[in-house]
Amino acid sequence: MEHLISMQDLEQSELLNLMNLAKNIENKDVLIDLRGKLVALLFFEPSTRTRFSFEAAMKKLGGETFSMTGDQHYSTKKGETIKDTLKTISMYADLIVVRSAVEGMARYAAEIVDIPVINAGDGANQHPTQALLDLYSIQKTQQKLKNLKIAMVGDLKFGRTVHSLAQAMASFSPQLFFSSPSHLAMPKHIKNDLEKAGVHYQEQKDFDRNISQLDILYMTRIQKERFADPEDYERVKNTFILKRSMLQDVKPNFKIMHPLPRVNEIEKEVDNTPYAYYFQQAQNGMFIRQAVIAVLLKAVSL
Ligand code: CP
Repeated sequence: MEHLISMQDLEQSELLNLMNLAKNIENKDVLIDLRGKLVALLFFEPSTRTRFSFEAAMKKLGGETFSMTGDQHYSTKKGETIKDTLKTISMYADLIVVRSAVEGMARYAAEIVDIPVINAGDGANQHPTQALLDLYSIQKTQQKLKNLKIAMVGDLKFGRTVHSLAQAMASFSPQLFFSSPSHLAMPKHIKNDLEKAGVHYQEQKDFDRNISQLDILYMTRIQKERFADPEDYERVKNTFILKRSMLQDVKPNFKIMHPLPRVNEIEKEVDNTPYAYYFQQAQNGMFIRQAVIAVLLKAVSL
């Protein structure tokens, strides 16, 4: 691993080894010392979890971070190219984490700097550390990754986390169920990848129709910021709302996941059921990001 840009860059064995490392980090079974190392956090789009969990991850490993948020106070405002900005930052840091609204930005950064790059979300494309923490959360709650029934619900077009997760699950023989407004369906290229991998998936209108059979219900937010027409958003924003009353007949191992932030797609009353897992899921992100940083900075090998 030189960079982490897309889930497709990872072999299944690397993925499993990363999760194992995250588990050892969480259980304090391994000591990693990144004193003297510096990570640049470049967030051109808003973030709470990804940014702060990367920061927490680096600090817990003894390293340090510096941040760039938005583009208002930097020399790009004076006409500097993003290429020169990235090149300059790579002179100070040992690793770059980048989030951008531009699809392909992290791949571009990896091509022009000589230090590792982690994609922290590029437009509607990929969010690989989210997929890794999602897999880690699924493994922790189900004690396995194979042969699970997983429903993905909400904005499957713009929701990059479901793209990365669907690809990540593909080698574990899942049964996938997709529910979205019709113009926010899972993109064709992701469905093609699933078909090539022999994954069984089904698109269904009512996301709670088979809720009693599911192992994981993965809810997502309708991504308002990616709509060209605000009225389009208004029309679909209340399409899929998970209510506590829908959870009557779920399996004991059933868990609700969400990459967060949520808006209104999970009722607050669901939070204090044993099925809600989204805040623990966010915590798992710190362990996974510790593992990814440690591997890319060659403090441990996979
Ligand atoms: N899940 C996620 O990417 O959250 P943030 O946008 O808050 O980083």
